[in-house]
Amino acid sequence: MKSYAPEPFVNFADETVRTQFDHELQHVLQKLDRTYPLVIGGREIYTDAQCVSYNPANLSQVIGRVSQATRAHVDEAFQNAAETFKTWSRKSAEQRALYLFKAATIIRRRKHEFSSWLLLEAGKTRPEADADTAECIDFLEYYGRQILTLAERGKETLVPYAGEDNQLHYIPLGVGVVIPPWNFPLAIMAGMTAASIVAGNTVLLKPASQTPVIAYKFLEVLKEAGLPDGVVNFVPGDVLEIGDYLVDHKMTRFISFTGSQRIGMRIYERASKVHDGQIWLKRVIAEMGGKDAIIVDADADLDAAAQAIVASAFNFSGQKCSACSRAIVHEAVYDDVLARVIERTKNLSVGNPSDPASIVGPVIDQKAYDKIQSYIELGKTEGRLVCGGTQTATPGYFVNPTIFADVAPNARISREEVFGPFLAFTKASSFTEAIEFANQTEFGLTGSVFTRNRDHIEEARATFHVGNLYFNRKSTGALVGVHPFGGFNMSGTDSKAGGPDYLMLFTQPKLSSEVL
Ligand code: SER
Repeated sequence: MKSYAPEPFVNFADETVRTQFDHELQHVLQKLDRTYPLVIGGREIYTDAQCVSYNPANLSQVIGRVSQATRAHVDEAFQNAAETFKTWSRKSAEQRALYLFKAATIIRRRKHEFSSWLLLEAGKTRPEADADTAECIDFLEYYGRQILTLAERGKETLVPYAGEDNQLHYIPLGVGVVIPPWNFPLAIMAGMTAASIVAGNTVLLKPASQTPVIAYKFLEVLKEAGLPDGVVNFVPGDVLEIGDYLVDHKMTRFISFTGSQRIGMRIYERASKVHDGQIWLKRVIAEMGGKDAIIVDADADLDAAAQAIVASAFNFSGQKCSACSRAIVHEAVYDDVLARVIERTKNLSVGNPSDPASIVGPVIDQKAYDKIQSYIELGKTEGRLVCGGTQTATPGYFVNPTIFADVAPNARISREEVFGPFLAFTKASSFTEAIEFANQTEFGLTGSVFTRNRDHIEEARATFHVGNLYFNRKSTGALVGVHPFGGFNMSGTDSKAGGPDYLMLFTQPKLSSEVL
């Protein structure tokens, strides 16, 4: 087996690539507005109730209509998943990994098709969509290899003892509930699902209601790869009908969640209750938000810093938990950095990602749009509006990249996650103060530092409390296996997706000791 390496991004500067992509996009456009089923134990179930998925850049374009699971469907899915667990959990790590490798091969072959779905359903530009697809392939390839490593680790990790054969087996947990986000609707959804099943669990996958069609497309890939029925059960549904029900269910062994802090906390709290007939404590693996800062030191490369701030804050309209939402800049270079960032931001073209010239696409839905607008109003009372703050008149949810200057480190717009193209600038009188400001949040996900000062690099390494700390580069774009991703405090349960310890979270270690 080849060793793992991240999937290269495609080069959209190459005209042949652009032509191939556009061809695939046209092909996907022919497939819009179809109806999709639930999939329970391999059985496709069409319901009268449907969730309609729209293109956030063009609300007249329906991406698809997706069946909605009731609580009875959820019960049925749990039964199927529990029954399938009996056989799936007994397969070897090698057998399970093969399904992931096959799925990766299929998606690699259909890369532009998947990226086209991401462009249309999530509003991603071509490079952002391609990065999502590449990350999906990476999770499949990486976790497939990691489960083999974990199986080996159990044999080698124990202290040898004369006359005994001692082994640690990382056995699966049982039936899990996977609740992925809409912002990486292919990569994170597939990563959470793949990690669960390759470790030997079976799951109920409840896709984000904004991006269920992409999730269904992934289900098709798993089927094509030959994954046995019932390993992944597809239960899209109204969160009010089945959200708590999935979490509370006595058959739920673990919940893998990525999304907002509010929902993550709700899940964490509800999962702690032991229900009648439940004989375990549920495990919650939650990745929640961020309020990520880029610090710019007095001696930094200011142009590189400005470029990274703009890319981290505004690519995919800032809708990444890794996005930079605060620039904390040393007073000696504050005005200079602010001017450079404003200039670069004004050159960003906002529009429908179908147009290759668009750099900033829409935000995901009305709720997100309204939330960002309310933070823009708040920002006007907490800072100086220097860029954006307006909307673009199109039939989608477009917000112009917005920057507030001179924001206090304890202002609400410095502390609360906005999840949009929204950036607050704060002045610091020293490097140490900049780190103090950066740490003044309940999150701790990503952070970047631009400096040429070795002492400051080491100071930040020791005191900047984030799970992903970057020097002299942007705060987004963690690569699977290269930059294990996940943060501290209210950013989640301290897990590292795409890291060497991640699969352990989906297992429980069992010791066997045999007298020889
Ligand atoms: N992993 C993504 C990034 O690093 C965020 O989810 O940008």
